[in-house]
Formats: sequence, C-alpha cells, structure tokens
Amino acid sequence: MSQHPTTPGAVQALPGHPFVAYHGAELQVEDVRLSRLAGEHGTPLFVYSKTSMLAALAAYQRGFAGRHAQICYAMKANSSLGVLQVFATAGCGFDIVSGGELERVLAAGGDAAKIIFSGVGKTRGEMRQALQAGIGCFNVESEAELDVLSEVAESLALRAPVSIRVNPNVDPKTHPYISTGLKDNKFGVAHEDTLRIYQYAASLKGLQVVGIDCHIGSQITDATPYLDAMDRVLDLVTSIEASGIALAHIDFGGGLGINYNNDTPPAADALWAQLLRKLDERGFGQKKLMIEPGRSLVGNAGVCVTEVLYVKPGEHKNFCIIDAAMNDLPRPAMYQAFHAIVPLLAEPTTAPNTPEARYDVVGPICESGDWIGRDRTLAVKAGDHLAVLSTGAYCMSMSSNYNTRGRAVELLVDGAQVHVIRERESAADQMRLERLVTL
Ligand code: LLP
Repeated sequence: MSQHPTTPGAVQALPGHPFVAYHGAELQVEDVRLSRLAGEHGTPLFVYSKTSMLAALAAYQRGFAGRHAQICYAMKANSSLGVLQVFATAGCGFDIVSGGELERVLAAGGDAAKIIFSGVGKTRGEMRQALQAGIGCFNVESEAELDVLSEVAESLALRAPVSIRVNPNVDPKTHPYISTGLKDNKFGVAHEDTLRIYQYAASLKGLQVVGIDCHIGSQITDATPYLDAMDRVLDLVTSIEASGIALAHIDFGGGLGINYNNDTPPAADALWAQLLRKLDERGFGQKKLMIEPGRSLVGNAGVCVTEVLYVKPGEHKNFCIIDAAMNDLPRPAMYQAFHAIVPLLAEPTTAPNTPEARYDVVGPICESGDWIGRDRTLAVKAGDHLAVLSTGAYCMSMSSNYNTRGRAVELLVDGAQVHVIRERESAADQMRLERLVTL
C-alpha cells in the first residue's frame, strides 16, 4: 500500500469513493476516522457516507434537470431504515420487490404514491397490502400476474395502476446472474408479445395501464445496452399508443455500475444526457420518466471494517483470516465479485516491521467459498484493521445468519456526525422466533 500518503494532512480519496479517503495515514469516511469507529463499535462494521449517497443521487438529478422524472431507489441494494430515510428525505421514490420492503419504506417515512412494485412473484397478500397503501405503480411481469392483480384490485373496489415489464432482449454484458434483459431470463414479457398483452391489460376491469418498464441487468458499465434497450422500448411505446392505449410514463429500470476494480461506468448525468438525446430525437422527450437505480446510489458510499484475527502462512497460499465473512459480504462467494481491501492505517504507521505478502483474505465460516479477496498484497498482522470497499450495495441486504453469526453494526456518517442505524445482532435476537419443544 505504498501509494498511500502518510504525510500528516495529505488527503487521498480512494478511486471511485469520493468520501472515503486517507487523511495522512488514517482512513476516514467523511470527517470520521474509521479506526475510532472500530474501537467504539467493534467489528465487523458497516459505515455509510450520507454525503456520498446524496452526491450519487445528485448526479441523476442533474441528468434529469428540467424533465418530468421520478427516481425510485431500488431498495434491495440496501434496505436499512437509516439509508431509506436519507433517500425519502431527499424526495426519492422507491422500487420494492416484497411486502416486507413496502413496510420498510413506510416505516422510514417514504411516500407510498412514489413506490413502484417490481418482481415476478408477487403474492395476492402483497398485492392487497400495496393497493391498500396506495402505491404508484405495479410493474407486472406476466399475463397470469395481470389476471390475479385485476382480481385482487376488484375485490377491494380499486383499480391497480400497472406498467408491464418488457424484456428488450439486449445483452448488458455483465455477470450472467445479474443480467435480466435477455430472452432466457425469467423477467418481463417477450418483446413480440407485448402489444397483445397491453391490449389484454387494458381490457381488465381492475387495472389501469399507466406505463411501460424494462430493466436489463446490473453493474452495467457501458452506455450501449441502455441505448439499445431504449430503442426497443420506444418502438413498443409507439405501437402501444397507436393501438389507443396511452402510456403516462416510461421506466428504464436501474443497473448502472460502479467502480469496484478499475471499472469505468459512465457517470449518471453523462449516461442520461445520451439517453435523453435519443428520447428527444424520437419525440418522447415530454414523457414522464422513471428509473430504479440501486447500486449506483449506495455501493461506493459504504465500507465494511473488519479486524485481522489470524495470519496463517500456508505451503501454497497465505491466509489472512478476518472477522467479516460470507454471511456479511456474500458477493465474492456468489458472483466471484471483487471488493478492494485496504488497511485502515496506511504504512508505515500500522506495520513498520510487517512485510508485505500475498494473501487470500477469508472469513471464519466453515466453507471454502468463504473468501472475501484472493491474492491480495497486504502488510498485516493479527489485530490490524482492514476496510472492504464498495460494500454499500448488496452486502447488508443480502447478509445472513449462517454459522449463527449476528449481523454487523451499521453506522451512517454525516460530516463529523455518526449515527448508529443498526445495532449488532445478538444470538438472542437470532433465536427470538424459535421455540424449544417437549421431546
Ligand atoms: N430494478 C429491478 C427490477 C431490478 O431487478 C434491480 C436489481 C434494480 C432495479 C436495481 O439494479 P441496480 O441499479 O442495483 O443495478 N445481488 C447482485 C445484484 C442483483 C440485482 C438485482 N436486480 C449483486 O450483488 O451484484
């Protein structure tokens, strides 16, 4: 880590993380030293920068300046109440995928009218709950779902606002598990069936057709798939409206990538400048636009602070065993995802006599898949602290209790202020709903 400055006062932000920076030798989130937070709250520990989230949101807001647009944060990326509060307070809507997520948005003070409900498997109960809350739109993914939603809405003497998710069949060139807009994916309705399905939706008494939507995948780092998908969706808008069905909004989903490892996604405002140019050229510039970004709003706002428990030299590999694991940080195990790992204290303060070596950074869970980083060059010894970067999205929200490990603490940093937004989960918390029986 010799590139990190150790001169007192020098500030060096980490690539892609404008609010995570070394101040001299100390890694900070905004104005707060992470070593202090590790001391006060223990590890593993998630720390999120509020300013970073708002800056990421501002890039979209700049992109949409002067347009009729609604940003719906895809809360599956990070559904912690304190994070939702930040976006609700900033006026965001939310993209939800379950009744549980709906309850979270309402608990965090979100506006029900700005909620869109996505997902291929909504239950009748979830539809009822969302209709009663008065959400803005259901993004429907199949004909069968249209039937059920219409029936549920009629039983409540309501009409459900719907948009149909179309599968534009474009390749987002991302990991196969997170690409959603190809023919073989379970998502959306096929392009060639869309007009017929819209006509069917318009005939159902419990529905009111209000829009169209698509989402082609996640961690997209190139504008081309977006431009292609927009063309395909606009072709459909033309034919649907020509058949007499008005569409008040177009929802282009989420998916914009972040910099994990020298990735170079377009900035949100630059991407939208290109997309809006196309929209204008094709004569749809006046339509209400919706988007569902998740990762790009929170991913690089978060770091996970962890302690090195043991350093274990091996015959072929060295292992750096840390106290965070695949239950806290599931993305490497699930997608072979890369997260940068850096020391909280840059050299030479931390380890003047500790030599650099190559390590597999692994957690304590009893699985070979429990790795967080492979072949990383680090100068570490037991007791040192590391930060796993880009962990604001799809980490806490995908965490588990595997090995009866409690979920980590979450802190929201705002300048020099630190808010605990989630306490560390105890074993008692985990056992609360379980019952001992008489055997
Ligand atoms: N809208 C829909 C309908 C989605 O399915 C998703 C993500 C989003 C919006 C938000 O996409 P984003 O802007 O965050 O890329 N767990 C994986 C990512 C799964 C994404 C699922 N859908 C990961 O850790 O990489």
